[in-house]
Amino acid sequence: MTEIKELERELRSLGENAEKEIEEADSLEKLEGIRVSYLGKKGKISVIMKGMGKLSPEERPYLGAIANEIKEKIQEKLKKQQETIQEREIERRIKEETLDVTMPGVSRQLGRIHPIQGTIDRIVDIFVGMGYTVAEGPQIETDYYNFTALNTPEDHPARDMQDTFYFEDGTLLRTHTSSVQIRYMEKHKPPIKIVAPGRVYRRDTVDATHSAVFHQVEILAVGEGLTFTDLKGTIKEFLRRMFGEEVPTVFRASYFPFTEPSAEVDVKWQGKWLEVLGCGMVDPNVLKAVGYDPEKYTGFAAGLGVERFAMILHKIDDIRRLYQSDLRFLRQF
Ligand code: DAH
Repeated sequence: MTEIKELERELRSLGENAEKEIEEADSLEKLEGIRVSYLGKKGKISVIMKGMGKLSPEERPYLGAIANEIKEKIQEKLKKQQETIQEREIERRIKEETLDVTMPGVSRQLGRIHPIQGTIDRIVDIFVGMGYTVAEGPQIETDYYNFTALNTPEDHPARDMQDTFYFEDGTLLRTHTSSVQIRYMEKHKPPIKIVAPGRVYRRDTVDATHSAVFHQVEILAVGEGLTFTDLKGTIKEFLRRMFGEEVPTVFRASYFPFTEPSAEVDVKWQGKWLEVLGCGMVDPNVLKAVGYDPEKYTGFAAGLGVERFAMILHKIDDIRRLYQSDLRFLRQF
């Protein structure tokens, strides 16, 4: 075969190979690689064209024209394939990123405040709104803070009112939040106004209205010239805010070792009288126990049953529902 025919054949087969490779390329990077390997300065076509030196001057234009034709074809093919790849990419992204608004939604479960905590928050907020400071104390208490300093010495019959869980070392699970009164007064000078929420424990038989673990909110105000009228006004205003309306209230005479006089408060709610809290004027012995001068200072205190309020406000029939973590119940709040 003549030299020129041989070169032409090589060029054309190069062109076919290039077209095949281009068709198979599936990325822009591969396309660019193919372009460089065929059309680049040191590419396959240039290499063949170097062989033109052996041809006569008359033959050269012929082969040059064929080389240009093949180069143009390759370029065109590259451009087309580039467009195809880009279109494919756009389609893929459209498919991937489309939002099907008819798909069912994935809803996330929301957490909730437990009705006991919700009730505590509501009570505490009302007293904070009246200028009270939040205070807290330990659940494991000593006999002194739970009883003795609260005017309830060892042989006092009132200890029987609160059946107590004792530890072997003589400490106990506090039976009421009244112990926080003593702890706070020991560290602060009057005047004071505190609201102390917390968990308390009693050896009670569990039934619809009793639980061995329950919650109280303690109120204590001590200052100069505080009277039973202040206590009454505070409690009545609290109850009005708690129930969202004026509710009929009665203060019944009662007995607690740490208050004198003492009272229990009933409210009329949805046609029934319900006991909601104990309260009274702080006994002078309690003030003495923390080093306050009972000639100068007086105070009032109250203890609110959280579960009682939660049950009344949410119409809960059995206290045990509050502790069973039954989601069907809890999801209502
Ligand atoms: N600590 C009492 C109880 O658990 C409740 C109580 C009554 C608290 C009168 C008080 C109060 O602060 O003044 O039964």
